[in-house]
Amino acid sequence: MPTVAVVILAAGEGSRMKSALPKVLHLAAGEPLVSHVVNAARGAGAAMVALVVPPEHAAIREAVGDDVEYEVQDPPRGTGDAARCGLRALGDDVELVVVVNGDGPCLRAETLRAMLDSRGEADGVFLTVQRDDPTGYGRIVRDHDGSLQKIVEESDCDDQQQALCEVNAGVYLFRATALAEALAELSPDNAQGELYLTDALEVIRRQGGRVALYQHHDIDEVSGVNTRAELAGVEETLRRRNIATLMAAGVTIRNPDTVLVDTDVLVGPDTTIFPGVTLEAGTRIGGGCTIYPNARIARSTLGSGVVVLDGSVVEDAIVDEDASVGPYARLRPGAHVCAGAKVGNFVEMKKTTLGPGSKASHLTYLGDAEVGANANIGAGTITCNYDGKNKHRTEIGDGAFIGSNTALVAPVRVGRGAYVGAGSTITKDIPDESLGVARGRQIIKQGWAPRDGEKDKD
Ligand code: UD1
Ligand code: CA
Repeated sequence: MPTVAVVILAAGEGSRMKSALPKVLHLAAGEPLVSHVVNAARGAGAAMVALVVPPEHAAIREAVGDDVEYEVQDPPRGTGDAARCGLRALGDDVELVVVVNGDGPCLRAETLRAMLDSRGEADGVFLTVQRDDPTGYGRIVRDHDGSLQKIVEESDCDDQQQALCEVNAGVYLFRATALAEALAELSPDNAQGELYLTDALEVIRRQGGRVALYQHHDIDEVSGVNTRAELAGVEETLRRRNIATLMAAGVTIRNPDTVLVDTDVLVGPDTTIFPGVTLEAGTRIGGGCTIYPNARIARSTLGSGVVVLDGSVVEDAIVDEDASVGPYARLRPGAHVCAGAKVGNFVEMKKTTLGPGSKASHLTYLGDAEVGANANIGAGTITCNYDGKNKHRTEIGDGAFIGSNTALVAPVRVGRGAYVGAGSTITKDIPDESLGVARGRQIIKQGWAPRDGEKDKD
């Protein structure tokens, strides 16, 4: 197999997005547009990936990481000029160059591989699709005998060309030397005054080289993002693809049209996902779980047999096997619900471990706390972890019982098997197997409120 490099064009201004963020960093299915393209390039077996970026590209570098080469294009003078910049990154051993637009996130590695396999002796292969509405795309113009003539950008089309529905997808394969020779010949003689990569087709033909079209049938896979509306379009394509992948892996999804699943999400077999659920990137869910309606789970790991009830939010958290969360619970970063534990309605947890089999069933805040196994945290328990300046820890031992409406003023420790009386404000440690009660004593004033409502008048 010849050495293949992929050059991704990501230096354009993306002005049609009307955004302060570079276009290729807009998210689709939880990942920047350009990261999807980088993943496809890697999946296709590229020996190297070069990213053509604008001068201000720290954010792109941060998002994509350091195992691609960066080449700066300054100023952006068109896709042909960008491809030239990309070639600078390539070593002499590179025989074939795939060039792709960085704004087409739905492209699959399989398609790039199929294109490579189809090349034969061609010097350039251009991927095309038939679109009902070709607006915005470069049109493929053929000679009378059907052979390829050129690609004409929309702004350069005459009326006849405008009506052509076969369009350039922005995915190309070249023999490296043929591309370098063709790019040297480009001129900015067009409506936008730019160097068009698409003109390479005509140049290669003129130089006696061979060009081929790779006709693709999945329009959605090669849709580019120029506008926010198109961003929503590619996101829908990726969402459907991710849902299909989960279902094929044995996940039941009820009313899939309402479920959002990012690309970097794994779910085990026999898990059931109800309508309105959002699973964000970095989420791992085991088998046999049930995720009830309107839960949002982000960057979290759930073991097998976990139940997440309606309307719960789980972010940067860990939930071990057979635990139950919600309804309307909020697990914030650093929450760890251990095996078989239960977090009930209106319970918030942050940087807190709730030990195996422990329960916090109602209306509770646990922050910076370590709760042992089989403890019972009564309704309305609050860890007072913040003194206005610093955060402090609360420790609750195995088998402890915290009565309802308790305030635990951290730093504080409730010992193993200890009890706290309901309504207490606990400021001192409670030893193992002891009872702590800290609340106002009840006063009875016998006959204070006579039945007729007339109290003593003087
Ligand atoms: C381009 C193609 C068009 C094709 C369409 C497919 C050209 C001239 N036109 O049009 O035939 O139908 O893609 O989606 O190539 N870029 C740079 N530097 C530049 C200009 C652009 O790196 O100077 C990058 C952009 O960041 C983007 C990609 O190249 O990722 C494509 O540029 P864009 O302006 O979106 O081209 P289109 O008008 O969509
Ligand atoms: Ca585009």
